[in-house]
Amino acid sequence: MSSLHETIFGSKPDASCFAPGRVNLIGEYTDLVGGSVLPMPLTKGITVEAAKASSITMVHSSLRGETEVIDLSDEAKGQWTDYVVGPLQMLAATGVDLPPMSFSIESNLPPGAGVSSSAALEVAVIRAALAVVDVSMADERIARLAQRAENEFCGVQCGIMDQMAIAAGTPGNALALNCDTLIFKNIPIPDDWTFAVIHCGQERQLSDGAYNERREAVRAAEAELGASLKKVTLDDVASLGATIVGARARHIVGEHVRVAAAVTAIEHMDRNAFGMAMNESHASLAADFEVSTPELDALVTAARDAGAYGARLTGAGFGGCIVTLLDSDDVGRWAKEVSAKCPQSWAVQL
Ligand code: GLA
Repeated sequence: MSSLHETIFGSKPDASCFAPGRVNLIGEYTDLVGGSVLPMPLTKGITVEAAKASSITMVHSSLRGETEVIDLSDEAKGQWTDYVVGPLQMLAATGVDLPPMSFSIESNLPPGAGVSSSAALEVAVIRAALAVVDVSMADERIARLAQRAENEFCGVQCGIMDQMAIAAGTPGNALALNCDTLIFKNIPIPDDWTFAVIHCGQERQLSDGAYNERREAVRAAEAELGASLKKVTLDDVASLGATIVGARARHIVGEHVRVAAAVTAIEHMDRNAFGMAMNESHASLAADFEVSTPELDALVTAARDAGAYGARLTGAGFGGCIVTLLDSDDVGRWAKEVSAKCPQSWAVQL
């Protein structure tokens, strides 16, 4: 059977690289201050095939059914090709000499669901281009380049969590990551634990502006306190008063405590403690960070009512998915009950 690349471009690819999606188990927005997070790579993801081309660089997306000519000097256009041009520009800026190439992209990740399809595409594009020119690069460096593409090219001031989970994570393991040092530990998910990812039926709204606003509020809190939010306590944050900046900071500081509790809980195989940290995280994301929606809240409630140990929105919020912790042998019953209560929701196949 010929590959997608052969079908579209008429030549075999020189390289084929896969990058998974990710679900964040806990530690939301803490990467903005270089804090700790606990994401898990998925088995589904994005495959990019690439080959040297004679004169121009072209990219095909099977999801879109589109083929576009791209140029590394292009500016962002607000479309899917940005996630190819941006990473290639960042890679070229490191001094790697990139010839004209053809890229074909295949994905089995739902876009706009909060499972990091854009970061997976960026990482897979960088890997495929590196393989074509036969240059090796450490996972951490690839993750940093993909993050720079988001920050500097696409204009989203995201942290490093998604790119690191995708570039350095191991399926079946949670990645306990320090987003400052990039030091991480893989923690195996116990066999009888299942993390289910359910889409609330509401596409993630155009949220780049709201995301950047959260980042600004976090920076403002750090400026006012004169310290990193990684280094302060909830008492310190109370001095910011009943302000939006104070509420955003309270979420970040509390979320660090919850990530630490969740890491201990998974290491001790304590589902109740892990679930409690998830529930508290959602409450804080809804009330203090204000990134939940009525649809996400309703699904989280239905998930818990049906017997989940814990449930919370995952990723940036504003629609998309929740993640929930279940007993592995209870998933079928649980899923039926939730879908009866929230018929617009659907399970993301991991
Ligand atoms: C998005 C960003 C991440 C992180 C999450 C929220 O996925 O890309 O860097 O900030 O939102 O935790």
